[in-house]
Amino acid sequence: MNVAARGKPVLKAGVKRLLGRAGFDIVRSTRVQGGVDDFIPFEPTMRAARAAGLSVGDYIDEVMNGTPGATRSTIDALREHGVYAAAPRTVLEIGPGSGRYLERTLQECSPDRYEIYETAAPWAAYLVDTFGVVAQPAEGCSLAPTADARVDLVQAHKVFNTVTFLQSARYFFEMARVTRPGGRIVFDVLTETCLDPAAVGVWATKGGAGHDSYPAAMPRRTCVDLFATLGCALEAAFQAPMGVASTEVLVFRKTA
Ligand SMILES: C[S@@+](CC[C@H](N)C(=O)[O-])C[C@H]1O[C@@H](n2cnc3c(N)ncnc32)[C@H](O)[C@@H]1O
Repeated sequence: MNVAARGKPVLKAGVKRLLGRAGFDIVRSTRVQGGVDDFIPFEPTMRAARAAGLSVGDYIDEVMNGTPGATRSTIDALREHGVYAAAPRTVLEIGPGSGRYLERTLQECSPDRYEIYETAAPWAAYLVDTFGVVAQPAEGCSLAPTADARVDLVQAHKVFNTVTFLQSARYFFEMARVTRPGGRIVFDVLTETCLDPAAVGVWATKGGAGHDSYPAAMPRRTCVDLFATLGCALEAAFQAPMGVASTEVLVFRKTA
């Protein structure tokens, strides 16, 4: 049975069961140095989304982030760039958090296997229970449990602007390693295309509260040149809303 087919029937039961659990108010990435120390707390977020009559993904977009439709517009753009056209059978996502991109990815394709690497244990458990994904041990910047050239679509959304340069760079090598030839790698980074003086001013005056490591910038050229050496060509790039400004989504195709 594919992941999407399994996920939908268990959605309600999984949410209900997990809402009944106690002790998940603070989510800490204890084994990870230098990244976000905590993420959106699981239980209050689920409660608030339910009270607002929204899915957790829409609640985060609309209420918490003030960017309604942000997740959907990124998925729409990825569809337009043909990311789902090859019907990926294996998907891997780093840092899915609440699963707002994961859920919409499963509406676009029906993979047999969907692996996640998520350091926030309660959210990882929720995604396993709700969508039938496979949670791999998240050690900080390694995808070691995943074999070489095994994955059709590797993605990370709003992760590499919250962790350190070295964590992102180490993940980049791993993402290229696990992607099969012809597969896609999708992630966003805060590149110089998102950082004109006006945007820097907005971030400086209104952004980034709460996390010292957010937003972390990453040169676009560094990504493009590095992935080129790893056999991955830049196929598409577009802006997506993030926080008080924007981030750049990059789509690579592994050619060799
Ligand atoms: C800003 S949140 C984004 C969550 C989700 N992708 C989204 O856009 O809603 C960053 C996510 O990355 C996770 N994370 C942080 N460091 C990580 C690491 N080293 N490896 C895997 N996940 C990590 C956090 O727990 C969190 O779920």
